[in-house]
Amino acid sequence: MKKIICVVGARPNFMKIAPVMDAFQRLFPQLNVLLLHTGQHYDANMKTQFFEQLGIPEPDIDLGVGSGSHAVQTAEIMLRFEPVLDKEQPDAIVVVGDVNSTISCALVAVKKDIPVIHIEAGLRSYDRKMPEEINRVLTDQISDRLYTTEKLAEQNLAKEGIPGERVCFAGNVMIDTLKKNAEKATPFLETLKEYNINAELQAKQYSLVTMHRPSNVDNKNILETLLKTLQKTSRTIPVVFPVHPRTQNKIKEFGLEHYIQDKNIHTLPPLGYMQLVGLMKNARVVMTDSGGIQEETTALGVPCITLRENTERPITVEQGTNTIVGTDPDLIYSTFEEVIKTGGKAGKQPELWDGHAADRIVTDLMDWLDQ
Ligand code: UD1
Repeated sequence: MKKIICVVGARPNFMKIAPVMDAFQRLFPQLNVLLLHTGQHYDANMKTQFFEQLGIPEPDIDLGVGSGSHAVQTAEIMLRFEPVLDKEQPDAIVVVGDVNSTISCALVAVKKDIPVIHIEAGLRSYDRKMPEEINRVLTDQISDRLYTTEKLAEQNLAKEGIPGERVCFAGNVMIDTLKKNAEKATPFLETLKEYNINAELQAKQYSLVTMHRPSNVDNKNILETLLKTLQKTSRTIPVVFPVHPRTQNKIKEFGLEHYIQDKNIHTLPPLGYMQLVGLMKNARVVMTDSGGIQEETTALGVPCITLRENTERPITVEQGTNTIVGTDPDLIYSTFEEVIKTGGKAGKQPELWDGHAADRIVTDLMDWLDQ
């Protein structure tokens, strides 16, 4: 019986692994599939509620690494993952996305000659200041089978010398999860009530904001500019802002709390998947620096303004509802006004973002492992 270890570590991994675990169980019940959580994200609102809401089984193995600098976190995951591989001797490991857990586990496995399978391969922002870009490039270089979400990813990989026969265009597993859950998402008013927000918010009459990229929140001037601009947009329609722990820490450290203590800005703790999707679906516009949310808004047909200078997911701009604006306050505000006035880009569903990516991936993977 073949054994596979699926690795997760951080919040954006959970919605990607959920349909993969499910597809393994449905299509290949005889397989021994273990779920390993590195512990990169550990709080209930960064981890546990995602497992519960998405029906992800409890991890078979939890490395419990916790937070740290990039070097500490990466090294700690590697140190703790190695004995697991020695003990379990899997036939392959599956890693998703671009977080530190992705590269750490891939690097340990490849040195032990254990095949590395990368889901969401080939995305490139071409911005090496982004820690995730380093994780993407390196993980793809050492992966044996690479599953992509968009056609351009294949070209990015080819440019880096990765042979085409290793690459398989399979679609977007995160959109599998979205399609399965969008209708069941928590009504946004319920979420607001849960957090004692009494404002009379109506569907399509608020903007949803998320930000946590170090390039935006670790620099006082940039963070202040962004918060000031959000405050300005909140004069047109109120802002709902679930605050990531990194951002929360930085707002406090830099003394910027007064910007979000505003009657038109409603802050929340980091939300569960069902709550966030409920808020996203009903937002007039989403302003974010997240990678995944750029894709989810495209799939939902909700306008997205991306507070970054670039994106590794260009299909969301070319075909979807996304506009890249960076951190220039005038450009953010003028794009916001334009979206409010016109309703934003209509967008269309990218190819193979159809809710069946995980089935295609596990089916292909089993064939590939048998060869
Ligand atoms: C990580 C990913 C990023 C992803 C993001 C989603 C990398 C390099 N970055 O960034 O790609 O978009 O997750 O959230 O892997 N913290 C908590 N509780 C937790 C986890 C973290 O309070 O459960 C706080 C800690 O203070 C920690 C900080 O958040 O130091 C940052 O966490 P970390 O995992 O280092 O990076 P993220 O910014 O979350």
